Amino acid sequence: MFLRRHLRVTLLSTRHISSLANSPHRAVVYSSTGNPSQVLSARALPPLPPPSPTHLNLRVLLSPINPADINVIEGVYPSKPSIRPDLGNVFIAGNEGLAEVVDVGDSVNSVVPGDWVVMSKPQAGTWASQLSVGEGDVIKVPQGLSEVQAATMSVNPPTALCMLRDFASLSPGDYIVQNGANSAVGQAVIQISAALSLKTINLVRDRPDISELKSKLSSLGATHVLTYDELAEKSTKTRVKEWTSGRSIKLGLNCVGGRDTTLMTGLLGHDAHLVSYGAMSKSPLSLPTSYFIFKNLTSHGFWMSRWYDSHSKSDREQLLAELADMMIAGKLHAPEHEIVTLRGSDEQVSEQVREAIGKGSAGRHGKKVLLRFAEE
Ligand SMILES: NC(=O)c1ccc[n+]([C@@H]2O[C@H](COP(=O)([O-])OP(=O)(O)OC[C@H]3O[C@@H](n4cnc5c(N)ncnc54)[C@H](OP(=O)(O)O)[C@@H]3O)[C@@H](O)[C@H]2O)c1
Repeated sequence: MFLRRHLRVTLLSTRHISSLANSPHRAVVYSSTGNPSQVLSARALPPLPPPSPTHLNLRVLLSPINPADINVIEGVYPSKPSIRPDLGNVFIAGNEGLAEVVDVGDSVNSVVPGDWVVMSKPQAGTWASQLSVGEGDVIKVPQGLSEVQAATMSVNPPTALCMLRDFASLSPGDYIVQNGANSAVGQAVIQISAALSLKTINLVRDRPDISELKSKLSSLGATHVLTYDELAEKSTKTRVKEWTSGRSIKLGLNCVGGRDTTLMTGLLGHDAHLVSYGAMSKSPLSLPTSYFIFKNLTSHGFWMSRWYDSHSKSDREQLLAELADMMIAGKLHAPEHEIVTLRGSDEQVSEQVREAIGKGSAGRHGKKVLLRFAEE
């Protein structure tokens, strides 16, 4: 893979050498928000014109389906894609993705054809075969990553790293606790924590193959894995104190909400930070007032989009470079995944997208689903 990519970069290093003009261009679009299975459809689009001086034309290689993508299509997420009057007032779905630069405008100098890039602009419309974006809207992917590592590197791994770094002052050997630990973010938290010599207590939903899931998370570096039912047992607080040798847990990461998160917060020590970044159970989070008064708990929210908005391009590049180093060092693996290749008529592709969304958002599937448009 690495050699192939290196060769491609060498061969394509002259600008305008390759064109998308003869490749079919298709995107997953919607004209009004709602249930994805009802509002989404695939549509053939006209070929992209050559890029303006500050723009790039991209061939999209892989686009993940993340939970937030579904919320955006449903109309219940704060970020919204721009409406496309040029395509008949539709939105193109998709936020995250890996693309190859095919053509660059005359004043573009940070990337060349053949480079891999990920989006730094939110809601770029990555569920498409081709994209036209501004030079500042992408970040060049460091060499040496697999396609899936690169396609899934700009949302979940940086969320994990920023949450571990930005809220509590942690030292090697400290414990953190998190729920939704088998999510893509949760698995990144486990691996990055292990790379930083932090220990993790990981909470997951029970299931028939729970021992398999516990072994899988342990193999990623999880220190302990408990189900929410085990968390609710009276003896758990004592077990946790034994594990931590009485050392206070300073950071809790919450992607679930509801009662299980209230219980998890009870494991935190004095002056700890609870960081909420998801609400998978759709249940509100309720915390005893006593945690704030007597334990000086601080409760925060984290949103990667806000981080990207409030940091410079060089900060973003540095964050991704740090994650890429961990990936290349074998410390941060791509999530388990399934690639769904989209091919056939618009109707067939629409159906394939609906099925892929069903897999990607059904929970328990355990795999990140990524879309790839076949080059037909
Ligand atoms: N704030 C941010 O910047 C940010 C960034 C990235 C992600 N997120 C959020 O983080 C969450 C995880 O994202 P992801 O891409 O890592 O997701 P993912 O890989 O698709 O995993 C989803 C996770 O949610 C769990 N889950 C689903 N329904 C649940 C329920 N009713 N109760 C408890 N757990 C439930 C699943 O557990 P099972 O295996 O048991 O089904 C699984 O662990 C999402 O809410 C996403 O929007 C936020």
